[in-house]
Amino acid sequence: MTDQRLLHGQWSSRLAFILAASGSAIGLGNIWKFPYLLGENGGGAFVLVYLACVVGIGLPIMMAETMLGRRGRQSPINTMAALAEEAGVHRAWRYVGWLGVAAGFLILSYYSVIAGWSMAYIFKMGGGFLNNVTPQMAQQTFQDIKAAPDVQLVWHTAFMAATVLIVSKGVSQGLERVARLMMPGLFLMLLALDIYAAGTSGFSQGMSFLFKPEFSKLTGESLLVAMGQAFFSLGLGMGSIMVYGSYLPDHVSIGRSSIFVATADTLVALMAGVAIFPVVFSNQLAPGMGPGLIFESLPLAFGHMPGGSLFGTLFFILVFFAAITSAIALIEPAVAWLSENRSLSRVRASIYAGFACWFLGLGTLISFSHGASVTWFGKTLFELVDFITADLMLPAGGILIAVFAGWIVKKQESAQELELGSYFCYWRILIRYVAPLSVFIIFAHAMGLL
Ligand code: PHE
Repeated sequence: MTDQRLLHGQWSSRLAFILAASGSAIGLGNIWKFPYLLGENGGGAFVLVYLACVVGIGLPIMMAETMLGRRGRQSPINTMAALAEEAGVHRAWRYVGWLGVAAGFLILSYYSVIAGWSMAYIFKMGGGFLNNVTPQMAQQTFQDIKAAPDVQLVWHTAFMAATVLIVSKGVSQGLERVARLMMPGLFLMLLALDIYAAGTSGFSQGMSFLFKPEFSKLTGESLLVAMGQAFFSLGLGMGSIMVYGSYLPDHVSIGRSSIFVATADTLVALMAGVAIFPVVFSNQLAPGMGPGLIFESLPLAFGHMPGGSLFGTLFFILVFFAAITSAIALIEPAVAWLSENRSLSRVRASIYAGFACWFLGLGTLISFSHGASVTWFGKTLFELVDFITADLMLPAGGILIAVFAGWIVKKQESAQELELGSYFCYWRILIRYVAPLSVFIIFAHAMGLL
């Protein structure tokens, strides 16, 4: 092999990993969830805690999870079992893999319903709904979809079917090409929305809401939500990055790739916030309205910009692709395990896993309309599943991954895998002490123990 081919090969595999990992990270979490959570939790202070969690907890865990995946080279459950055996610790560590598979399933079950809303909006945008759109019309359109389980069922089913189709084919070249176009496309579209937002009357109010922290607004629960969102948005704590790490060639620097992915993910979330809040304040919408926030605010932006129908349609198409690349990451640990351990073909494994998620998703779907009055601990089924997965299961998985990578994997081995040079000692402090203790303290605080 000539030097040049070698170089090219290395570059393209690093790019493939970065595309897959950012595809997993960038999704509805950035565009739909981050804005509404920060709206519900008071703005600037939430953003600051979120950023601190990304840097202090998320980034070191992303490196740890990728590293464990590359060492194990199997599905998360088998990777954890194999690494535990190699290190001479208890096989129960494989339950970290199980926790991840379960979290991925539960998240995808509702993720698909929300992705279905964005699919419905692809068609709404082109259909004349944007002509002279008022806040009332935008609100009505979203409420109509939310109140119609039959419409949501069609889109939820279409989204799961698309996910199964792609996953059953393996991570295909076609998808890589889509991701390669999708990311810059999404970035440009958000930039255009940000520029539009800068000219609206609510811009300065929106900016101070986003970037001026008022710590009195932070509760124990909002700290927990900010941390959970860091895990959710980076796609950590459930083994999907571990699976992607398992396909990673040895020579790729995990440290640099993770920094790139975490930075891109954070940038997209912040750009979505900057696009949405000025529009919210210009139109006297309520920042804390919940999961409908982007669906009730963005049509007002698209409706008032030149070429809005076209841009709006394109935007929701991009959101759909961003969602599907995340959905693949959510289901991949289960599919990898089913095909490794149950010797199912990839096609069958994807269909079974996809069907189970689809079925579970029916509960979420109903919880937005007829089931809205059924609550546990004051939460609807959607809110409960979201809380248990994003705020409990992912951080718990994260602590275990941090402890395993920081305390059980040998120092020389992790140093060699991560290639962080003189920064390695910082990673080690973060992964051994800062990340697990912070998650623990935030848990304890939310439970009223601190
Ligand atoms: N990170 C994805 C998003 O922001 C969701 C996700 C969570 C993907 C966990 C993989 C694992 O939309």
